[in-house]
Amino acid sequence: MPEIKSIKDYRNGIKRVLISEEEIAAAVQKAGKQIDSIYDGSPILLVSILKGAFVFMADIIRAVSVPCEIGFMCAKSYYSGTVSAGTVKITMDLEQDISGYHVVIIEDIIDTGRTLYDVVNLLKTRNPRSMHVVTLLDKPSRRDPRVEASGFKADISLFTIEDLFVIGYGLDCAEYYRNLPYIAEYSPETEVE
Ligand code: IMP
Ligand code: MG
Repeated sequence: MPEIKSIKDYRNGIKRVLISEEEIAAAVQKAGKQIDSIYDGSPILLVSILKGAFVFMADIIRAVSVPCEIGFMCAKSYYSGTVSAGTVKITMDLEQDISGYHVVIIEDIIDTGRTLYDVVNLLKTRNPRSMHVVTLLDKPSRRDPRVEASGFKADISLFTIEDLFVIGYGLDCAEYYRNLPYIAEYSPETEVE
């Protein structure tokens, strides 16, 4: 388990609130309506990429009114600088056979974009009826040029942020801070080891 030297250090890790609870709630409601309008009453399968997206997932399912099932998967991507494609390792897979489903991927953040790009390509091989990507946060300035060149992007993105390391609302630093109800900028001066 990572060690926190003191509760003061822990609190100092929270530099400033970037997106408030209220701003998140309003954006989630709007995204829920967008999802409803895309599917117009057809059943969907919301797939959350763990662990970061679990809080967003819990809120987004209550903001959609189309019939929905949920699924979870855990993925890690490995890249080396010279290789043009990554290897995505699924550490926990979906239990559903997604063929024939309208799949909506729920992600916490698109940073380099490598993880999601690989997950989307993998899931496409399983013949879903359609696939859309919803991300809470997007850091376009960090995108891997190869992902950029592929034309890959989210269909719905709630907030675009600068190149900052953020915590809260499911996002972690060394597994901590996921329980903050807002999104904050992390202060690296106070390392959580
Ligand atoms: P990727 O670089 O787009 O493949 O992002 C991989 C993963 O890194 C994301 O799904 C997040 O779990 C994590 N990540 C990227 N940026 C941040 C951040 O600012 N805070 C917390 N986690 C992050
Ligand atoms: Mg993640």
